[in-house]
Amino acid sequence: MEQNRREFIKGTAWMAALAAAGGGFGGCMSLGGTSSMSNFAVAPLKKIRVGIIGIGSRGTGAVHRIALIPGCEIVALCDLRPEAVESAKKWLKEKGKPEPKYCYSGKEDSWKALSDNDNIDLVYIVTPAQLHPPMEIYSLLAGKHVLTEVPGAQTMDQCWEIVETCEKVRRHCMMLENCCYGEMEMLAWNLCHKGLLGTLTHAEGGYIHNLTGRHMEHPTDKNNFRTRAKKAQALAKPGSLVKSWGNTYPTHALGPICLYMDINRSDRMETIVSLSSLAAAHQEFAAATYKPEEWQNHLKWATGDMNTSIIRTAKGRTIMMQVDQCTPRPYSRINLIQGTKGCFYDYPPRLALSKKPGEHAGWLSEDAFKKAREEHKHPLWKSVGEIAKKVGGHGGMDFIMDLRWAYCLQNGLPLDMDVYDLASWSAIVPCSAKSDKAGGVPVEIPDFTRGAWETAKPQHIGDVDLGKMGFDPSTAKKDKSQLNV
Ligand SMILES: NC(=O)c1ccc[n+]([C@@H]2O[C@H](COP(=O)([O-])OP(=O)(O)OC[C@H]3O[C@@H](n4cnc5c(N)ncnc54)[C@H](O)[C@@H]3O)[C@@H](O)[C@H]2O)c1
Repeated sequence: MEQNRREFIKGTAWMAALAAAGGGFGGCMSLGGTSSMSNFAVAPLKKIRVGIIGIGSRGTGAVHRIALIPGCEIVALCDLRPEAVESAKKWLKEKGKPEPKYCYSGKEDSWKALSDNDNIDLVYIVTPAQLHPPMEIYSLLAGKHVLTEVPGAQTMDQCWEIVETCEKVRRHCMMLENCCYGEMEMLAWNLCHKGLLGTLTHAEGGYIHNLTGRHMEHPTDKNNFRTRAKKAQALAKPGSLVKSWGNTYPTHALGPICLYMDINRSDRMETIVSLSSLAAAHQEFAAATYKPEEWQNHLKWATGDMNTSIIRTAKGRTIMMQVDQCTPRPYSRINLIQGTKGCFYDYPPRLALSKKPGEHAGWLSEDAFKKAREEHKHPLWKSVGEIAKKVGGHGGMDFIMDLRWAYCLQNGLPLDMDVYDLASWSAIVPCSAKSDKAGGVPVEIPDFTRGAWETAKPQHIGDVDLGKMGFDPSTAKKDKSQLNV
């Protein structure tokens, strides 16, 4: 209810401001006078002038990938560290790419000049998580399209502010959820949208990734994996509690599932319950790895080893989500999607298909699954998979993601994910924390679309036309050097 009240107050404030400015109240009143960003598209942008903020680990990869996309030009770079900008510039020069005309560095807010620069169409944000929301909002207000690394926001207020800003300025604002473009995720998307799994009823996703060693180096900064150990050590006062609630990293698992189920475009996430398990693995790892006097053993590791959350959608589907970043288990995003006629289940990938709804179906044999995998491979992976694997970036999915937004922008199509996806997927962090803290009570997930989900068209995640984009795919397949990677 709290969120609805806030929405009402903010909505009316916006309407009053519009009235004072002589604006009309056309369109959807619940959206505060603006219309929905669902299925939003802009006129084709044949040449996309990109500015990248944050040239660290992910940002360097982004520079390398975007530089390969015909029609995209990296015209601006920004990082707090001048050496990061210099190194990216040097790489682009070595690869014979145009030199970025605008470079910014040195100050915490040097990035604002990039966002303000009128020679940029799109701001690509790859900084630490806590910087994403201010950078998104500022860049939107400066009239830029925005693509941001995960998470798009960290608090509920930020989610709303990003949505409202986006609706006001009418620019794209998409979270770069690369896992949506994984080969298995796209296969599952295709199975769902071909109707082969029947009516979708349930999904499971996770982020099972043992990062205990990394947490021991910098336990107090959840948002930046690479914070130096020194900083963490300084913060590690004896007896300090290392505690977080709910699902702290949901989007890699949830993003693909939301696209399978067309969430925010015919269904929406309504409620979440969340509970965390006993906390044991960090403490035991610290005791077994470090001397009793070392700072790692001064902390009380209290974040539950496993958090399990269940989301219920408006159509009554359920999504089970888990996050576990500390117990010994091989990496998994779980990635299960269940329908009335079949089930896809990853890690390792398996498929069960029945001829009739509800009829028993076992997992396909290795050969049958191989055949099905080829037959139902997503068109994007059919046409770009080989190239994407050569370029790299999480097995190719990062490049497919970048190619796809570039293609959509160049052809005036809606992007595969919109600002409502950004907000609702990111909002799982505060919503699940609220539920977990209260002992697993159901918590309402706000409808950031304010009703537009009921009429929004499901997004068709189609192929890209490499020829139209300026690639010569036949040469690229044969000759790795064409890609200059
Ligand atoms: N999608 C994925 O698979 C994936 C994987 C890892 C990280 N991430 C996300 O990517 C983001 C970046 O992660 P990373 O691993 O590259 O981190 P990183 O620390 O390697 O890079 C961050 C960069 O931002 C720069 N920076 C910090 N403050 C700045 C400011 N005020 N202005 C300009 N630049 C600033 C830093 O100097 C650094 O170069 C994080 O938000 C993280 O959550 C996503």
